[in-house]
Amino acid sequence: MNLTECIASRRSIRRFEEREIKASTIRRLIHSAIQAPSACNMQAWKFIVVNKRGNMNKLVNFGAAKWIANAPCGILVVYRNDVTINTVLYKDNFQSAAAAIQNMLLEATNLGLAACWICDLPRPKYVRKIFAIPREFDVIAYIALGYPKHDNSKLSLKHYGDEKKYNAHERKYSFEQVVCYDKFYSTNNDCTSMQIPKRKVVKRFWLKRKCFRNILFTDHMLKE
Ligand SMILES: Cc1cc2nc3c(=O)[nH]c(=O)nc-3n(C[C@H](O)[C@H](O)[C@H](O)COP(=O)(O)O)c2cc1C
Repeated sequence: MNLTECIASRRSIRRFEEREIKASTIRRLIHSAIQAPSACNMQAWKFIVVNKRGNMNKLVNFGAAKWIANAPCGILVVYRNDVTINTVLYKDNFQSAAAAIQNMLLEATNLGLAACWICDLPRPKYVRKIFAIPREFDVIAYIALGYPKHDNSKLSLKHYGDEKKYNAHERKYSFEQVVCYDKFYSTNNDCTSMQIPKRKVVKRFWLKRKCFRNILFTDHMLKE
C-alpha cells in the first residue's frame, strides 16, 4: 500500500477480533511512531503497551470508552510536560505526541490492523495511578489496537453503529471548506458553522490549578 492509499483508507475501528498482536508488530508500530517530528527533537514520549485485561477494565470502570476493553492490546501515549517553553504556549508536547500517534495509526493501517485513537479517558490522576505515571508526564491518548472484526472498506462515507455519534457530518470536509487564503474567513458549511452541543460546566479543581499554572508561566515569559 502506498502512502496516499494508506492515508485514504485509515479509519477509526472500534470492533476487534480476539486475535493477539505479535510483539514484533507492536515493535514496528512504535518504531514508526518514533520517526515523527517532535518539538526541539526532544522525543520526550513514552509508550505504555497495555496487554493486561485488568488494566483495560480499570480504565473502563473509571469511565473510559468501553471499546478499550474489546481490543486485545492498547498503547497509552504519555509525553513530558516540562521540556520546552512552548509546552505552555502552544502545548507542543501534545503536538509532538499527536504526530507520533498519527504515524502509528498509518502503520497500523499498513499492517492491516484496526486502531482507534481514544481521549475518552478517566481523569488523568486515575490514569496516572493505574500505570504509575510520574507527574512530569502528561497523559495524551490511548490507542486501542487489534485486528478488525469487519471489512474496513465498508466504512466509506459515514460510520455505522457506535461510530455514528462521532460522525454527525459527512465523513470529511472538502478542500474548499477547510482552506482560506491570507486571513481567516468562513466558507460554506465549514466548521465555523458547526453546532457545538452545550456542555455541562463541571468545576474541576485539577483543571483550575493547571490553568492557573499556565497563566503564571505565560506572564513570566511575557516579561522577558
Ligand atoms: C484527539 C482525538 C481524540 C479521539 N478520541 C476518541 C475517543 O475518545 N473515542 C473514540 O471512539 N474515538 C475517538 N477519536 C476518533 C475520532 O472519533 C475519529 O477520528 C473521527 O470520528 C473520524 O473518523 P476516522 O478516524 O475514521 O476518520 C479521537 C480522535 C482524535 C484525533
